Amino acid sequence: MTGSSIERALEILRNGGLVAIPTETVYGLAGDASNEAAVRRIFEAKGRPADHPLIVHVATAQQLGDWASSVPPAAAVLAETCWPGPLTLLVSKAAHVLPVVTGGRDTVGIRVPAHPLTTELLTRFGGGLAAPSANRFGKVSPTTAAHVVADLGSGVDYVLDGGACPIGVESTIVDCTTNPPQILRPGGIGSEEISALLDGTLAGADGPSRAPGMLASHYAPTARVMLVDTAAEAAALAANSSGGWILDHSDDLSEYARSLYADLRSADERGVAVIIAVMPPAIGLGHAIRDRLGKAATP
Ligand code: TXA
Ligand code: MG
Repeated sequence: MTGSSIERALEILRNGGLVAIPTETVYGLAGDASNEAAVRRIFEAKGRPADHPLIVHVATAQQLGDWASSVPPAAAVLAETCWPGPLTLLVSKAAHVLPVVTGGRDTVGIRVPAHPLTTELLTRFGGGLAAPSANRFGKVSPTTAAHVVADLGSGVDYVLDGGACPIGVESTIVDCTTNPPQILRPGGIGSEEISALLDGTLAGADGPSRAPGMLASHYAPTARVMLVDTAAEAAALAANSSGGWILDHSDDLSEYARSLYADLRSADERGVAVIIAVMPPAIGLGHAIRDRLGKAATP
């Protein structure tokens, strides 16, 4: 069932049910992070292996200390500056954090999402919501309520419809348990911005994602994806081969990120055999788009 009732979403979450929630990045499949049975249902609904940890979403940056055993200075700076926003911080977990949430690890990922409906939901809920992206395991993340319904159907009790996600790619994950901190997954905030906030002490800023579960072919559509560096190369390839659908917003990184997953889904729906994608420059959101396109191109 899809709707915009926060009341209904709260009731379901308090009873251990699952609600798909809108965020500024992608939709999440949320359950009460303190309810082991609810968290287990998340893994079942997604078809996700149990050792892939979940991000805990909270209403405010002040709640970071409730979920972390200690807050390193870098985490404090990033939380203060970037939250609410598309950033997940990895910190040592507090004793009460359930192993089912962290996949048995001693760290936990925390994020304060920026979406008015979800902010109100989290504020009224009070606790943390464990939420991976609301797609079936191995599929691209959902950026609309309709994508969630298409992927999860009756696996989710309610879809809180907050419209299309404005950023369109997942949060940047920064591991704050290492010195210097390191980027595990490029995402909605560019590594340049994070590095500047940390006075240049940041590892892994240009690399591919290394968070567990970010398999090489994680974001695969059914269509074959070919990567090129310029629009001219894409046109030549499309002309020389038997067609191919060109994906290119490399002149507008925000638009590229916002529409990326919806475009990959619609190419599959239309039975497109080959997607020819133009790689955007490796700056800002471009890091995340390049990472996801690279994974989509890996069979
Ligand atoms: O934008 C986002 O981050 C979205 C929205 C819903 O918040 N969530 C999201 O969750 O992308 P998910 O589960 O699809 O991806 C989270 C990634 C996974 O690769 C997971 O393995 C990694 O974060 N992760 C979470 N907690 C971790 C931990 N304690 N240690 C290492 N990796 C962790
Ligand atoms: Mg995911």
